Amino acid sequence: YGAAQVLVASNRGPVSYAVGEDGSLNAKRGGGGLVSGLSAIGSDADALWVCSALSDGDREAVRRGVGEDGVRMLDIPADVHADAYNGIANSVLWFVHHMLYQTPLEPVFDDEFRRQWTSYETYNRAFAEALAEEAAQGAAVVVQDYHLTLVPGMLRELRPDLRIGHFSHTPWAPPEYFRMLPDDVAGQVLRGMLGADRLGFLTQRWADAFTACAEQFAGGLGSTRIGVHGLGADADFLRKRSHEADVEERMAALREEIGEDRRTIVRVDRTELSKNIVRGLLAYRRLLDSHAEWRERVVHVAFAYPSRQDLAVYREYMAEVRRLADEINEQYGTPGWTPVVLHLKDDFARSLAAYRLADVALVNPIRDGMNLVAKEVPVVSDAGCALVLSREAGAFEELGEDAITVNPYDITGTAVALHEALSMRPEERAERSKRLAAAATALPPGQWFLDQLDALKG
Ligand code: G6P
Repeated sequence: YGAAQVLVASNRGPVSYAVGEDGSLNAKRGGGGLVSGLSAIGSDADALWVCSALSDGDREAVRRGVGEDGVRMLDIPADVHADAYNGIANSVLWFVHHMLYQTPLEPVFDDEFRRQWTSYETYNRAFAEALAEEAAQGAAVVVQDYHLTLVPGMLRELRPDLRIGHFSHTPWAPPEYFRMLPDDVAGQVLRGMLGADRLGFLTQRWADAFTACAEQFAGGLGSTRIGVHGLGADADFLRKRSHEADVEERMAALREEIGEDRRTIVRVDRTELSKNIVRGLLAYRRLLDSHAEWRERVVHVAFAYPSRQDLAVYREYMAEVRRLADEINEQYGTPGWTPVVLHLKDDFARSLAAYRLADVALVNPIRDGMNLVAKEVPVVSDAGCALVLSREAGAFEELGEDAITVNPYDITGTAVALHEALSMRPEERAERSKRLAAAATALPPGQWFLDQLDALKG
């Protein structure tokens, strides 16, 4: 047996490497709920994070034996990883849970899919074996997300002594949609997950959908327990980080781009099909069209950062976002006013700068496990912001009362909501924003993670 008492497994790990021009390896630390969550267990517990080598730099680091304490990167063969990550996880399971298929043509479960599925099994097995090797007797293991649905079942067979949890950061599909998967694959996914002692979800809605799938297609939950843990924003970190010098610098630059005395509608997303960026732009165009009084007086600050660019549909989506933003600027722009300020290069400090300047935050996903942007903007915005929020975001369960709710497919309705948000009296906006921030920070990442561990051990 290994020495680790607490283990986390996820596809994307907390650190990544790039090979510099001189051949040296440069480490870059990532952020996010899990990173701050895991730091809450402190350094006395022997914790290990098992993740995939994703970049060439990561693979090189594994080969050279470079790494960080507490992180083990798995160098899974690149073609196996690509099949599992791009083919199965991001093209099939992500699409199923976010209900993204355009069903007259997709999905197609053919021999190519079967080949990729075999890679997904191999990739999951590599994680299960590494965890089995590293875990101490009776250790707690928390497996993350749709990339690793088979791991709990595989690990249970290898190490029946472990306490195994799985946490889903995505929605879960309702049974009528989930059953699109070939029956044997659907069964494998459910049985894999049900190998865990405990399954965690971000909202009751996703937990109920999983339970319904388990009941209809796998004979019920058996001895597996289900819990809901709604990850919140990290208020202390965000408030501090958003007042550092690099953020202030970017605020000045953004103010310049926006122009004097203009309202801002801010959105920040990975350029992700489920985030519904295109319909957001269409709604903004509709706003300028139907409410001429906002022309010259509002700017849509849209940050759409590259994501999963190995997939053609993501590249095409990004091109469409860019095309539509240009079209709106051409149609409505004037010499002194650019209606859409679009940035595509990932820059966390600039995201925080936009949060601080936001009068309105637009979060309109088709479907989203939680959506932390909806939670972060009210915490960071200087004057308090109005939140236009999709009822299909997990965050809606916690923030719905003080947000302006939209049906993400309804462009006319979203334009009306944007108008309402821009027109909100400043006092009301500030009060709502305060309540939103309080709800958004109710379960900070440290507590979110500790709660899961306690529940798993209890
Ligand atoms: C979602 C998933 C995460 C994933 C993240 C970024 O939030 O739930 O598991 O890490 O997207 O996507 P990527 O494919 O770049 O890791």
